[in-house]
This record gives sequence, structure tokens and C-alpha cells, in this order.
Amino acid sequence: MKIYEKAKVTKAIELSKGIFELRIKTNIAKEAKPGQFVMVYPKDKSTILPRPISICEAEGDLLRLVYRVAGKGTKEFSLYEENEDVTVMGPIGNGFPIEKALGKKAVLIGGGIGVPPILQLSKEIKAKEVTTVLGYRNNDLFLKDDFDKCSNTVIATEDGSVGTKGNVLTAIKEQGIECDVIFACGPMPMLRAIKQYAKEKNIEAYISLEERMACGVGACLGCVCKTVKKDEHSHVNNARVCTEGPVFLASEVDI
Ligand SMILES: Cc1cc2nc3c(=O)[nH]c(=O)nc-3n(C[C@H](O)[C@H](O)[C@H](O)COP(=O)(O)OP(=O)(O)OC[C@H]3O[C@@H](n4cnc5c(N)ncnc54)[C@H](O)[C@@H]3O)c2cc1C
Ligand code: FES
Repeated sequence: MKIYEKAKVTKAIELSKGIFELRIKTNIAKEAKPGQFVMVYPKDKSTILPRPISICEAEGDLLRLVYRVAGKGTKEFSLYEENEDVTVMGPIGNGFPIEKALGKKAVLIGGGIGVPPILQLSKEIKAKEVTTVLGYRNNDLFLKDDFDKCSNTVIATEDGSVGTKGNVLTAIKEQGIECDVIFACGPMPMLRAIKQYAKEKNIEAYISLEERMACGVGACLGCVCKTVKKDEHSHVNNARVCTEGPVFLASEVDI
């Protein structure tokens, strides 16, 4: 069930340079699953459209969102202060199919601003073995301490300042990490490379896609992605990221 409500900001801080954390008290938290997201309404009512932000953590009635300031909407989010009201709608989307990891070796991958949605996943997943691989640009390892509390974490940095020099796949190959299932969130080039890697190794991979969104409820078709198979009803190779996604089996989407 989607909830649309005025929630209370309980914490609003800059976590690291340009990356902010918003903790809010909302009933959405009780319903949220890893990989789902919420639509957050900017403070300035002239910015009409809400912006999608993934669930980073959900506990009781508290939701933690972590976002990068990218433009006008997210800049306004960064102005929210403790005890202010913020309008939110959610939880939205399918979320990660965590049951697919039962009895298997799972690798969770987060790259850049795709790191936050992996945190709740790493807390909830039940698998034979779990390794989390996080990719950052440099030694600004936001959320790393939170991951260390709940999973075996491997780091890759583009500049080589921490962990493996390179990207998440460089780290997986260098460390000989093997798995049966992958769950990933991050920039499109990373997701494309994971799709290719999973195909070569015959690994099931679930990837979380990002598209620009307007309504967030499946009505505007602003967020469609290309799928390999035709949709049964519309007979086109399209799926709405906000409704059928944001998580897709990599082999089923054309990215
Ligand atoms: C399902 C989903 C979950 C997301 N979760 C998070 C999250 O947890 N943390 C986070 O920081 N961001 C997340 N995003 C991205 C976030 O929604 C956008 O950065 C935000 O909407 C930008 O709004 P803006 O008004 O600040 O910037 P705008 O002025 O609208 O855009 C600024 C720049 O960002 C680009 N951009 C805008 N929207 C997107 C998008 N959806 N994907 C890629 N590029 C975009 C624009 O092309 C432009 O270059 C998520 C997006 C989706 C679809
Ligand atoms: S954002 Fe409108 S259909 Fe997905």
C-alpha cells in the first residue's frame, strides 16, 4: 500500500561532501523493503515534481535516505532541518527479490550514489554467504562504517586510495569472489558491465535502474526502459521503472 503523508524530519546532515542524509519519521518505514524508493517533495512548492530517493535504511517508523545534491530538487532537500515537515509518498517499486539468495552465495554491489540502497539489503538478506562490494571515486567512503557492522565488505576506488584500484568488477576479479546471484545498484556503465559479466559467468543478476520520474505511480510513462521481451498487454518492449522496477533481472532489460 502506498502512503502519501507529511512526515517529520528527525535528522538532516551532510554526511560527506555533497552527500546528505535525511532521517524521517513516517509510516512508510514500516512497509518498506530493500530496493524500494520514496518520492520526496521539495521544500519550495514551485518545484512541483517530487524526486525519487531509495530507501537506505528502514527501522520501526524511521526511514533513512541518503542522496547526492544533483540539481534544484535535491538542493532543496538539503535545506530541510530537524523537526520540519516533509511530504513523502511510498514505498514505491518492487524492491530486490531477496528470496532469490536463499541457500546461495550472494554478492551485493553498490557504486557511487548506488551505495545507499544496498545497506538495507545487506541487513535483511539471508544467504549461504554474502559479500558486499562497494565502489567509490576516492577515499570518501560514505556509509562504509554502517556496512562493516552487517557484512563482509570489499572496497574499490577509482583513484586506488583505498582497496582495489579500479571498479567493483576489478575488485571481484582480483579477489576471486565467486557467487550464484548478484544484486546491484549504481551508474549505468557499471550496471552494463555487471550484466555482461553475469551473462559470461551464467550468474543470476538483479539490477536497480534509474530513470527520470514524474508521477512515480505508473501513469505518465516518463520512466520507461527497454525490455528484451514484449509486454503482454501493450505489445511493446517497454517497462515502467517506477512500477515494474526499479529492480530487473539483468537479462530481461536492454541497457
Ligand atoms: C528509483 C530511483 C531511486 C533513486 N535513489 C536515489 C538515492 O537514493 N540517492 C540519490 O542521490 N539519488 C537517487 N536517485 C536519483 C535522484 O532521483 C536524482 O538525482 C534527482 O531526481 C535529481 O533531481 P534534481 O532536481 O536535484 O536534479 P535535476 O535538476 O532534475 O537534474 C540534475 C542532473 O541529474 C540528472 N538526473 C536527474 N534525475 C536523474 C535520474 N533519475 N537518474 C539519473 N540522472 C538523473 C539530470 O539529467 C541532470 O544532469 C534515484 C532515482 C531513481 C529513479
Ligand atoms: S514516473 Fe510516471 S510512469 Fe513512472
